[in-house]
Parts: sequence; structure tokens; C-alpha cells
Amino acid sequence: MTTRTRILTGITTTGTPHLGNYAGAIRPAILASQDANADSFYFLADYHALIKCDDPQRIQRSRMEIAATWLAGGLDVNRVTFYRQSDIPEIPELTWLLTCVAAKGLLNRAHAYKASVDKNVEAGEDPDAGISMGLYSYPVLMAADILMFNAHKVPVGRDQIQHVEMARDIGQRFNHLFGNGKEFFTMPEALIEESVATLPGLDGRKMSKSYDNTIPLFTSAKDMKDAISRIVTDSRAPGEAKDPDNSHLFTLYQAFASKAQEEEFRAELLQGLGWGEAKNRLFQLLDGQLGEARERYHQLMSRPSDMEDLLLIGAKKARAVAAPFLAELREAVGLRSFVNQASAPVAAKKKAAKAARVVSFRDDDGNFRFRFFTADGEQLLLSRKFADGRTAGGFAKLLQADEQVEVRPEALSFSVWIGGAAIADSAVFPDEMSRDAAIEALRAAQTPTED
Ligand code: TRP
Repeated sequence: MTTRTRILTGITTTGTPHLGNYAGAIRPAILASQDANADSFYFLADYHALIKCDDPQRIQRSRMEIAATWLAGGLDVNRVTFYRQSDIPEIPELTWLLTCVAAKGLLNRAHAYKASVDKNVEAGEDPDAGISMGLYSYPVLMAADILMFNAHKVPVGRDQIQHVEMARDIGQRFNHLFGNGKEFFTMPEALIEESVATLPGLDGRKMSKSYDNTIPLFTSAKDMKDAISRIVTDSRAPGEAKDPDNSHLFTLYQAFASKAQEEEFRAELLQGLGWGEAKNRLFQLLDGQLGEARERYHQLMSRPSDMEDLLLIGAKKARAVAAPFLAELREAVGLRSFVNQASAPVAAKKKAAKAARVVSFRDDDGNFRFRFFTADGEQLLLSRKFADGRTAGGFAKLLQADEQVEVRPEALSFSVWIGGAAIADSAVFPDEMSRDAAIEALRAAQTPTED
């Protein structure tokens, strides 16, 4: 049995990763994947990207850049399952099954959708102006991402906690409707890394593309240096003591420095290190840590077919999990083959078992016997004769619990054996197919004792 924690997260492929993405999400995820207890699923959420972006060039570039960033950052594809969401056709299929059980009222409450509606209303527009069904159903697609792989932990930003909660909600509803006591879906938990710094950007606000205050990650050393030179500082001159705890330049340094490096830098700032020199130190630190990865990044970007191959292997690994699971779910909702209908799914088996019945009686010559019925009252077996009621009752119990029971087909009927003795017989069937169907029905009506 594996008891590894399944960690799953998706990255929406609409932009180019910057330093803040790296420190806040990519680096911690790669580190977490190295834990022997972690079974990590990381993917490019490119179907989600289509919701926000209708520029094919940008989607394609971002998918490649994000894949290359994770790989260059040290993600080991032999340890983790790394794939593109759009390479897994089971995801949109599961999305539909979940869409059919997701309450519309639940989705009405999604923050992203509500924010768009509020904006429209404020602007005096139609509440749904410009809102696509993709945006509206965004949480269902995300639920499919998560539930498909039965993730335990989902590392996300705070803005995504609600979506993980919705995944639980939708998964629970599916379990309730179709599980018959079986929990198809594991309940996922959002994982918010408290210790991970959200990096400040050039102006001190959170580093974010929407504030246009980012430090590029792998584009080039020059780009990184230029951005660093634009970090806003106070106006203290060289020689004046700086206040490290109120300097976001220091915060950025801290996020990449060892304790010793951090202390040294702090001391130097207190002693009046000039800001120009301080920026230089920050660049040296980042370049030292990210320079090699940057080279790997450019190598990967120049050989897209290598990345394509890696991602297709990842998709294969993911589909090896997704395809059989989806088959089970299709079965559960009633999308079943017309052939072999007697091989009832596990769910139906449990349902029938609840109501399977044994009726005991005494026959004319005073022997104890019983009849075994399915849930819908079909008689499957008539027991042999037993001299005392307790023996008959004991066998009936074993039969119901499917313990030590052996079924032997004989021509157009079958008998049931326990401990080397025949205890009950079926009727005679018109053909082998109906006989086998009755054996299946018997199996379905039994409740194996759990151990
Ligand atoms: N919506 C997430 C974001 O924008 C990305 C995402 C898509 C995701 N599917 C996911 C994250 C499943 C975690 C799990 O950040």
C-alpha cells in the first residue's frame, strides 16, 4: 500500500514566470516534490488559460516558457507526473460529469465570477456582459483537475482556496449520488505555504504582472540587472545607515540568501552601504543562484521537441491513472456497455447486498431449509435439508457473507458448497447464459465481510 501524500497543482499558462512566481510557487513545489513521501502531480493548466486569453501565440509561448521554467528549476520528471492538462482528454470528460452535479448556486458564489458581475453592474452594463461560460464554470474544470487524481493536498494561492472548497463540495455530491457508500473522490485540502514569502516587486507592492513591477526570472542576466536597478529605495546617501527591515530590496535579498549571507548584508546596510552597491549585491546573489538554471532554460527553449517528448510521457503517466478511474465513474453514472450487464458495478453490489434476503422454513418431513433471494425478490437458491435449525442458519449466514463459499456450475444449474459439502442448489436454467447471469446475481447479493 502506498501512503504517499498526493500533491497536485496547476499553473495557468498565460504569462512568463517572474522571480515572484519562482520564489512563491515554483521553488517550493520543486522542493516538496523531492520528499520521499510526496507523489506530486504538476501540470500546465492550459484549458484554464483559454478562459482568460484568446491570443493563441501567447498561450503557446507561455506553455513553453512555463514548462521550461519548471524543468530548468530542477523538477525531476521521473519522480513527479508533469503534464499538460489539455493532453488528458479524461479531464474535460470528468468536467462534464461534475458539471451535471454541481449546483448552479454554488458557482454563482465564485469570487472570480462575482467580481466580474460587480464590475459590470458598477459600470451600468448587463451583469453578464463579457462573461463566458468558461469563466463561470472555471471551478468545475478545476475540480476535475483535482478530483481526477484524488489529490490530498493542493498548494495554491489564497485566491484559490474557494475553488478547492468547491472541488470538495462537488466531489462530495458526486460521492453521495453515485457512490452507494463508496467514496470515489478523496476530499482535497488547500495547502497555503505560510512560510513562503510573497516577494515585493520593484515598487514594494506584491510582485505581480498586473502591477508591472516584476523582476524577470530567466530571460537574460541583463534584463534582471536592469530591473534590479529600478528597485525603489529611500534617498539615503552612501555612508548613511540604511534600515534593512524597511527595505524591500533587503526582503528580496533575504528570499535567496543563506542566514549568514543575510546577516552580512544586514550589517553592511547598517554600516552605510550605498544603494547602488546594494543592488549590485542582490544581482550577484540572484545571478549566482539562477545563472545555471537560466542556461538550462534557454537550452530547453531551443529544443522544444525534447520538452514535447517529456510532456507526452507525463501525459501517459497521468492517463494511466485517469483512464481506468474515469471508466469506473462512467459506469457509476450509468454510461455502461450494453454487453455484460450482469457484471454489476461495485456500487450496485452493495445496494443489492443491503436487501438480499434469506427465508428459512421447515419442510414437510421436519427438516430445516432456506431460500436465498436477491434484493428484487428473485429466488437464487434453495438449500438442501438440514436436521437442525442452527446448522441451516449458520450456512445461510456464511452464504450471505460470502465466506468459504464455492459456486460450482453443473450443466444448466449450479450448486453452492461450503467446507466440502453442497448446501444449496439453483434452479435449472434454459441456457448457460442465464445460469451465469444468476451466478453473477448471487455474487452481487452477497456482502463480503470486510477485514
Ligand atoms: N486556478 C489555478 C490558478 O489560477 C490554476 C489551477 C488550475 C489549479 N487547476 C488547478 C491549481 C488545480 C490547483 C489545482 O492558480
